[in-house]
Parts: sequence; C-alpha cells; structure tokens
Amino acid sequence: MSTQVKIYKTAADLFHHSADKIASLVNEYVQSTGKCSFVLSGSSTPKNLYKILGNKSFQKNINWSNVYFFWGDERCVPPDNNLSNYKMAYDSFLSKIDIDETNIFRILAEKPHPKAAKDYENRLRKFFHNVKFPTFDVVLLGLGTDGHTASLFQGSAVLKEKKKWVVDNYVEKINSWRITMTLPVLNQAKNIVFLVSGKEKANAVKSVIKDKDKSIPASLIEPKDGNLIWCLDRDAAALIK
Ligand code: 6PG
Repeated sequence: MSTQVKIYKTAADLFHHSADKIASLVNEYVQSTGKCSFVLSGSSTPKNLYKILGNKSFQKNINWSNVYFFWGDERCVPPDNNLSNYKMAYDSFLSKIDIDETNIFRILAEKPHPKAAKDYENRLRKFFHNVKFPTFDVVLLGLGTDGHTASLFQGSAVLKEKKKWVVDNYVEKINSWRITMTLPVLNQAKNIVFLVSGKEKANAVKSVIKDKDKSIPASLIEPKDGNLIWCLDRDAAALIK
C-alpha cells in the first residue's frame, strides 16, 4: 500500500485538484484496460467534486462512456429521496454526462434491506465474474466526524465481515439501515481516494492519519496492493500538519 496526503489551501482548491486526480486515474484505466470501475461516495462533501466532473468544460478531459459507476454505500431510501446517495450523484454529475444507464450500478435501496444487499452483491459478482473479491479501479470515500467511512461505523459487526461483498447494516447512532461495501472489498481496490473538507473533520483526520487509531473505521481502509490518497483542505488537515 502506498499512501499520499495532499493538502489544499481552500475547499475550492480541494475539489478542483481532486477532480483532476480522479480524471487522470479514470483515464489511466480506460486507456490501459478499456474501462474503469469507479465507486462513488455519498452524503454532502463529494457534491462539489461531482459538479466539476459533470461540467461540460471538464468533460473534454475524459471519456465517460467506458466508466462503470458503483456506490460504496447507500441509505435505505428510494432513488428519488433527498437522502439518496444515488440521487445526489445523479443530479450533480451522472445526469450531466454522456453515459449509458447500463454503466450505472445503482444500489436498489428501495427494496427490503437484506434483499437490496444481496441483489447488489449478485450484480457485482456478475460484473466481476465471481472472483473472491472484486478489484475496483477507483474508490471515492468520505469521512464522518466520528471516523466512519462508507457505512462502516465504529463498533459495528460489519467491520469483521470477511466473506460478503455487500451487507445491510443497522446503524444504532443514526437509527437507520444502510447498505455498504465491506472492508475486504474496499481494501482490494487499486486506488482509494478520501475526500475530506472542513474543520469539523480535523479530529477524525488526526485519529486516522496521525494517531492510526484502529478503533476508527476509516483507519481500517488499507488497500493492500493499492494506493491510498487523502485529499484534504487545510481545515480538515489542521491537526496533522
Ligand atoms: C454516507 C457516506 C458517509 C459520508 C460521511 C461524510 O452515506 O453518509 O457514505 O460515509 O461519506 O458521513 O459525510 P459528509 O460528506 O456529509 O460530511
């Protein structure tokens, strides 16, 4: 595993430089293998990144038609719900680019959560021809103020999952069910990019990057044969400089 920590002066710099980095990774795989599997993250931080990636002026840099989109996690809501990670990515990004809907692997989170998880794993197994664990080319992750990532929360049994690719996970602290990729899947990735902005994340960033606190789920993201790239703004990096 190689780790890089990139710190940008402002949030705007963070999103623009991260968009360039994502574009260059996607192009690298499209040019070398003919396609790129790109796992999107959710909630609010990536929205500004997605807007840049979906911007017409940016599209000259990238041929999206050979990119396959997945989600690292999803809330158990329908795709038209404002809490949906799919909806956020579709509205800010995927609806703006020339992409066939068969390239978009939405988690069917409107289904009962056990079925939604099983269905997603089955579709991933079909796409990756049922290998032991899939190797995604690019995985984008966010970081919660408590150090969770995807829907892997502290103390959750899901953190110990060694076989399944996707699980449904009841998250006590938010009283909600989530669907999430598991650590063995995420840690099989070729590139994991954490996108973290804002001073409210500084403690979590310190716990992971400086303290290497293994009780924090994001500390367990260690792509064994891949690159781990932290993209932070100065506020988020305030306690590690
Ligand atoms: C989710 C995300 C989650 C998110 C962090 C950061 O579905 O909530 O996958 O892991 O990345 O909670 O969220 P913000 O970007 O809103 O701070």
